[in-house]
Amino acid sequence: MPDSPSGIRSAVEFLRADVLVAFPTETVYGLGADARSDTAVARVFAAKGRPTFNPLIVHVADFDMAEEIAFFPPPARRLAEALWPGPLTLVLGKRRDAGLSDLATSGLDTVALRIPAHDLAGQLLREFGGPLAAPSANPSGAVSPTRADHVLDGLGGRISAVLDGGACQVGLESTIIGFDGDTGILLRPGGLDLGVIETVLGAPLDTRALRHVNAPGQLLSHYAPRAGLRLEATGPGPAEVWLGFGPIAALRPGLNLSPSGDLVEAAANLFAFLREADTIATRTGVTRIAVAPVPMTGLGLAINDRL
Ligand code: TXA
Ligand code: MG
Repeated sequence: MPDSPSGIRSAVEFLRADVLVAFPTETVYGLGADARSDTAVARVFAAKGRPTFNPLIVHVADFDMAEEIAFFPPPARRLAEALWPGPLTLVLGKRRDAGLSDLATSGLDTVALRIPAHDLAGQLLREFGGPLAAPSANPSGAVSPTRADHVLDGLGGRISAVLDGGACQVGLESTIIGFDGDTGILLRPGGLDLGVIETVLGAPLDTRALRHVNAPGQLLSHYAPRAGLRLEATGPGPAEVWLGFGPIAALRPGLNLSPSGDLVEAAANLFAFLREADTIATRTGVTRIAVAPVPMTGLGLAINDRL
C-alpha cells in the first residue's frame, strides 16, 4: 500500500473492521490491531503463530490518548515529556475504564504504552483515533522487520496490508521501562540509550530484573484466577464452574470459549471468560474451574500455555 492519504484511509477502514495492518515505526515495523478489540488482538497472535500470549505494546497518537489509558507517576511523566515520541515504552498502571482488550495486556493491571516517532505511524494513529496494539510484524521466532518487504516476506498472505514507510531508522525494538515508586526499572534494553533515560530521571535505572531472567516475557505474571483449574475436563464436577470449548462442550451449563470450536474466537474470549468463571466461582462458593480440552494447533498452543 503506498504512503498516501488514501493508503492511510484504507488502513483505518481495515483496522475498524478488526483486520490487521502492518505499519512502520522508527524502531521496527509493527503488526497493528485495534487494542480495544479482543478479536483483532487474537488475530495478531494467530498471524504471528505465537505459542504464548505475551502482553503487547499499545501505541497511541499523543499524550492525551496515553492519559486516558494509564496513570503517569511523576518520573513517567518526565520521561514521556522529554522522550516521546520515541523508542521508549513505559509500563504503567492501567485505568479501569481504559477500554483495552484483556488479551492485549494479558489481563494485567498494567499496560505498556508508547508514542512512536514516525510520520506514517502518527498519521495512522491520529486518523484511527484509538490505541493500536502492535508487536513486531514478523512470524514468531523470526527477526523483527525493518522494511515493508521484510514484513511481506514473513507475513504475506496472513495480513491484509502494510503501509510502506521505507527503512526504520532505529531498527531495534523500543527500550521498556517500568516503575517501582520513583525508581525506573529496565525491563527490556532497546533502541533508546539508557544514559539518556537516566539523565531525564536524574537517577540510575534499576537493572536487576534483567539478571534474573533471559526473556522479557518471563518477567511477567499473567492474570491468574483465584479458583484452581482442572484441565482436559470432559464436563464440570459438582463443585466446578465449566469453561467449555467446541460444540459438544457447549451443551453443558457454564461458559464456552467458542461453541463452534474457533481458536481465534476462543483466544479472544480467554482472559475475559477466565475472569467471569472466577467471579461465578467466588459467588457460588466453588473453588475450581473445569476446562475442556483445547487442541494444540494454531492459537491452541498459546491458549494451552496460558491455561
Ligand atoms: O519497538 C517496539 O517496541 C515494537 C514496535 C512495533 O513498537 N513493538 C514491540 O512490541 O516490540 P512487542 O509487543 O513485541 O513487545 C512486547 C513486550 C513484551 O514481551 C513485554 O516484555 C513488554 O512488551 N510488555 C508489554 N506489556 C507489559 C506489561 N504490562 N508489563 C511488563 N512488560 C510488558
Ligand atoms: Mg518481536
